[in-house]
Amino acid sequence: MAITSPDNRLWWKEPIHRIELAWIIIAFLWGLVMFFTMTFWHAFGQQNLSNTTYKVMPQAFAAKAERMAEQYKVREELGIPVVHPPPGSDVYLIGRIWMWWPILELEKGQSYRFHLSAMEYSHGFSLQPVNINIQLQPGYEHVFTMTPTDSGEFGIICNEYCGFGHHTMASRLYVVEKSTARSTQE
Ligand code: CUA
Repeated sequence: MAITSPDNRLWWKEPIHRIELAWIIIAFLWGLVMFFTMTFWHAFGQQNLSNTTYKVMPQAFAAKAERMAEQYKVREELGIPVVHPPPGSDVYLIGRIWMWWPILELEKGQSYRFHLSAMEYSHGFSLQPVNINIQLQPGYEHVFTMTPTDSGEFGIICNEYCGFGHHTMASRLYVVEKSTARSTQE
């Protein structure tokens, strides 16, 4: 607050400067470009798969994942089960501090119904190098269909900051050729 009144009490009531107007128009147009790019990229970028989300209790989700892992476990890596569920089935992946559980092994060219959820904090599912990203929230199950088109080993990282172990939250996803799928079972 000024002690003395300003000389010009209506200091704000001036015609807009042409340069300022130009910047407002540029910013507005750029906002539109970004908006439509997001819409376009969602449809054609194949990075943020359309998913449906359902409420689920974390314990109930974990129970489903454990049941799947028990049924289709083929081996273990670093104490984490590697699970080879049948093509076309529902597969579950848990994000929790600070790991992904279990490790999935899928078959190339087969479709799977993915169910992802977080146990306690928000985690960011990020499949590399294909760059498919889905944000996971505890209490919600994110469901989508994925058909691997390439075989190999893919990386899963967490790209949502989730505490001091965030950077260690890395895992893998195997995609095997159909013919070799059974031979990986030991
Ligand atoms: Cu989980 Cu960052």
